[in-house]
Amino acid sequence: MRLHSMKRNTAITFLLTGAFFLVLYLWKEDYAVHVTNRHHVHERKKASQNRPPTTRSSYVYSWSSCHQNASAANITGFTSLPGHIQAFLYHRHCRHFPMLLDVPDKCGGADKSSEVFLLLVIKSSPENHDRREVLRKTWANERLHNGVWIRRIFILGTAGAGFEKQRLSKLLELEHSEHNDILQWDFLDAPYNLTLKQILFLEWMERNCPQTRFLLNGDDDVFANTDNMVEYLQSLKDNNGSKHLFAGHLAENEGPIRNPKSKYYVPVQLHESESYPPFCRGGGYLLSGYTAMVIYKMSKSITILPMDDVYMAMCLAKAGLTPVYHMGIKNLGMYIPSKNIDAHDPCYYKDVLVVHRFLPPQLYLMWHRIHDPNLKC
Ligand SMILES: *[C@@H]1O[C@H](CO)[C@@H](O)[C@H](O)[C@H]1NC(C)=O
Ligand SMILES: *[C@@H]1O[C@H](CO)[C@@H](O)[C@H](O)[C@H]1NC(C)=O
Ligand SMILES: *[C@@H]1O[C@H](CO)[C@@H](O)[C@H](O)[C@H]1NC(C)=O
Ligand SMILES: *[C@@H]1O[C@H](CO)[C@@H](O)[C@H](O)[C@H]1NC(C)=O
Repeated sequence: MRLHSMKRNTAITFLLTGAFFLVLYLWKEDYAVHVTNRHHVHERKKASQNRPPTTRSSYVYSWSSCHQNASAANITGFTSLPGHIQAFLYHRHCRHFPMLLDVPDKCGGADKSSEVFLLLVIKSSPENHDRREVLRKTWANERLHNGVWIRRIFILGTAGAGFEKQRLSKLLELEHSEHNDILQWDFLDAPYNLTLKQILFLEWMERNCPQTRFLLNGDDDVFANTDNMVEYLQSLKDNNGSKHLFAGHLAENEGPIRNPKSKYYVPVQLHESESYPPFCRGGGYLLSGYTAMVIYKMSKSITILPMDDVYMAMCLAKAGLTPVYHMGIKNLGMYIPSKNIDAHDPCYYKDVLVVHRFLPPQLYLMWHRIHDPNLKC
């Protein structure tokens, strides 16, 4: 009898425990779904709060994602191309993606955007948090310099998959709410999507900052002496941003790299001609607001090429404009004459405009060293 009742009690306990876990499990499932939904609603709500006034442009805020062009697979030799080039060809026609994070008032509104003298447009990718943090504290700090405004934005796509993608989005949301400096679109942030990123930025600029005087278009791993840059741009006598300017590290007589092993491989299926127009190497270049808008207009009728720096030059060429060489822009790094000289001697960096490739701690240190009032060169 006793044994029987104990058995029954145990059975009931088991049943109850089972039911409890089942409820917990279902609740968790429900919770997970709920959280994801809330996350989406939150993003959408945020996006609509940030919706720019639609009176000036017919911009559709939330483009549905672009579908791949299945016929790309018919291109001769398609199957023998590397995966990222196939991915590029499938999506070559895509120019609109939903915006995830926006800063429509970065320039104080389209009409007031001429008050921004230098807009720093920095290509970054979601995982480069450390680089963004150090740039915010150094050359990309938003400030008034020599009486004019410097403003900053980072331009990004998305990265990772699943939880990793969610974590990176959350990170960017946090950074954005603190610093108000992130433009993010819902496309894969990959090297062969850099031209797409550039075009999306120019479209954004036409809507939000069309009269900005000058732009520095650069990567998040360059050292840019933005103080010098402002002073150089102010010294241009007949250019207040409403005339052509495109200056950087000029590359001439170059063509597509046909070596399939290269990171920059461009097969004939992407670009048939063996030559490129003269272009300024990516990394960093300076342009006027006028030129940026001309490039955007031209881009509408030029097929996308993955190399964004070459693509910008193609747009310039179509408008009959040319880029120029600026000796202060060193996108292949500095030439230091002797091994016995410290390659990080601040005296070499005081007078340049842009130098390619710095790690965050080097950048932080260099920015402080060139501003040291006791620096003697
Ligand atoms: C190309 O691809 C499409 C879609 O995959 C297919 O329907 C078509 O028959 C192929 N051939 C040509 C010449 O377009
Ligand atoms: C799709 O790809 C084919 C082959 O390259 C091309 O002829 C066609 O114009 C593309 N379609 C779109 C919408 O870009
Ligand atoms: C560019 O982004 C689109 C949208 O996310 C993606 O489908 C495509 O694969 C990307 N292209 C490359 C070359 O990674
Ligand atoms: C810029 O300079 C041009 C003359 O070169 C002038 O017509 C224009 O009004 C100026 N723009 C601004 C915003 O000062």
